[in-house]
Amino acid sequence: MRLVLLGPPGAGKGTQARALGALWNIPQIASGDLLRSVVGDGSELGKQAHRYMDRGQLVPDELVLKLIGDRLGQDDARGGFILDGFPRNVAQAEALSGMLKRAGTRVDRAVAVIVPDEEIVRRISGRRTCKNCAAMYHVSFEPPHKSGICDKCGGELYQRADDAEGTVRERLKVYAGTTRPLFDHYGRHGLLKQIDGVGRTDEVEKRILEALDGLLPPAKAGAKA
Ligand code: AP5
Repeated sequence: MRLVLLGPPGAGKGTQARALGALWNIPQIASGDLLRSVVGDGSELGKQAHRYMDRGQLVPDELVLKLIGDRLGQDDARGGFILDGFPRNVAQAEALSGMLKRAGTRVDRAVAVIVPDEEIVRRISGRRTCKNCAAMYHVSFEPPHKSGICDKCGGELYQRADDAEGTVRERLKVYAGTTRPLFDHYGRHGLLKQIDGVGRTDEVEKRILEALDGLLPPAKAGAKA
């Protein structure tokens, strides 16, 4: 399955992408994670990307497309993937279909997770991420057993710099102006489904699975046969 997850910052794209990736045994490919890793390596490119991310603005397409192209070319993505945070604008969506076309494939579905702004602010302000394994928590909705420590690997939990309130507001503005038009783009191609992203994570996952009607994870497809 080749799935694009759309939705505003903090909608739960990463949370859902990881869960769905495990069901299909395919990778979650998150442009934000790829960029944060470039920033972390301290390179000149990383410094450039950091300047945009810190302000809540989109990193130039050229860099993002290079990272995504390289990642999609890796062996584990050949059988499918879940894209989280990419594409972010129509030019990226067109570049993606070009890449996939050259590989003889295409996007199967784009699912947009819809969450109102006030819920987004609640989610983002409480988000904590593991420095070591990138596992995600929320101080109220999904707290770790021990405050500040990752349940999975014992790593230290941190709050993303771009989760500061002013930056979140800018990210929401960029989303509305630049990423939201992708709904029309994928809608025109008959690929878009919109689901309500409010509720428990397992409820949201169920809605996404329903929106993927016909595209069943291997275990469920086997049970139906
Ligand atoms: P990126 O890392 O992609 O951030 P984002 O799209 O703003 O999304 P988030 O990671 O903030 O949220 P999410 O939807 O994944 O939600 P999550 O599952 O974490 O991008 C960061 C920056 O990188 C951008 O601003 C830009 O500068 C740059 N960038 C990235 N991609 C780019 C691209 N393609 N082109 C150009 N620039 C790019 O959940 C959030 C919180 O809510 C967590 O605490 C979670 O535990 C909690 N939660 C999740 N689901 C629920 C639920 N159902 N109920 C309650 N809490 C929940």
